[in-house]
Amino acid sequence: MKHRTWSHASFLVLTAALAACAGGDQSADEILIGEYGSLTGTTATFGISTKNGIEMATEAINAAGGLLGKQVRIIVEDDQGRPEEAQTVVSKLINSDRVVALLGEVASSNSLAAAPVAQQNRIPMISPSSTNPAVTEVGDFIFRVCFIDPFQGFVMAKFAANTLQFTNVAILRDIKSDYSVGLADVFIQNFTTLGGTIASDESYSGGDTDFSAQLTALKATNPQAIFVPGYYTEVGLIARQAKALGIQAPLLGGDGWDSPDLIEIGGEALEGSYFSNHYSVDDPSPAIQKFVTDYRAKYGETPDALAGLGYDAAMVLFDAIKRAGTTEPQALRDAIAATRNFAGVTGTTTLDEHRNAVKPAVVLQIKDAKLAYVETITP
Ligand code: PHE
Repeated sequence: MKHRTWSHASFLVLTAALAACAGGDQSADEILIGEYGSLTGTTATFGISTKNGIEMATEAINAAGGLLGKQVRIIVEDDQGRPEEAQTVVSKLINSDRVVALLGEVASSNSLAAAPVAQQNRIPMISPSSTNPAVTEVGDFIFRVCFIDPFQGFVMAKFAANTLQFTNVAILRDIKSDYSVGLADVFIQNFTTLGGTIASDESYSGGDTDFSAQLTALKATNPQAIFVPGYYTEVGLIARQAKALGIQAPLLGGDGWDSPDLIEIGGEALEGSYFSNHYSVDDPSPAIQKFVTDYRAKYGETPDALAGLGYDAAMVLFDAIKRAGTTEPQALRDAIAATRNFAGVTGTTTLDEHRNAVKPAVVLQIKDAKLAYVETITP
């Protein structure tokens, strides 16, 4: 039998068929979307709240008939809050499950680890809540529906300098977190521009439980506040240990504080502290109040910002699938990039040319073991 070489045309047909498999309409009646996050570990509430928000959005879209005549199914992977694991589960979601898009992660270091896998495979990824600028710089398939840290750091520096009238603030940053390191830098830049002085700049590694050496060193510099752009587990412990050392200065922080567990861990020691966040449950906006009521009825707790951002990220993706009329990756990418004035729980999402959302931030204060709304700062 005569050996037959492949023609260019049949090669193209095969390539197209393979491309369709790798993220196309592979299932007759379902659209598969991958979600990755920390369902366990010291940032477990990040993944759990996000998952709840995405689940609520998915149930809503499926009850309304799904998308493109199909039901939406979310495949959720626990990355334990670890960057290497985030990369592994995202490879699995793309290559074995053949998801058409990804939702995740929360912590910027985990998004940064996984985004190159999504980008190389040309599968759109939307982070609900990673705020480090580098995340969407990975490539044109990577998006986020939240503000970024150059804005968040400005908000807290301005709040410290202008609202609180502080001139001398210390820093305590998590050197294992891209988010924490970046946000500390932006805060310092803005606070010093506003005339403030940095009393001292100490660091720890996420997962640490003893901060007494750093806090003792900070105390000696006599700051009016300590800016701690970390995640809730360490922040709660830092607050307790600071009080135990007799530090009276309030702590200031960013969105990484947001967790139903924050006050449980930090207790009384957090009273009077402030942090920036993506929304406030006290906001009377009907969209927020409806979300809060529905979420409480379903999950028995008050939704944190991650629940709202998870919900919004999923809704932005669903809206893009609808507008694209397909889940073909390039068309879907283009539709996500074209998102304008999408009304969600955490405000209106318009994606800019860098695939970031521009949204206001709120400042919250911990008062009587609750999060009290202080002010909204618009970009
Ligand atoms: N912005 C944080 C990061 O990039 C994640 C986060 C967002 C945590 C919102 C809590 C609430 O790492």
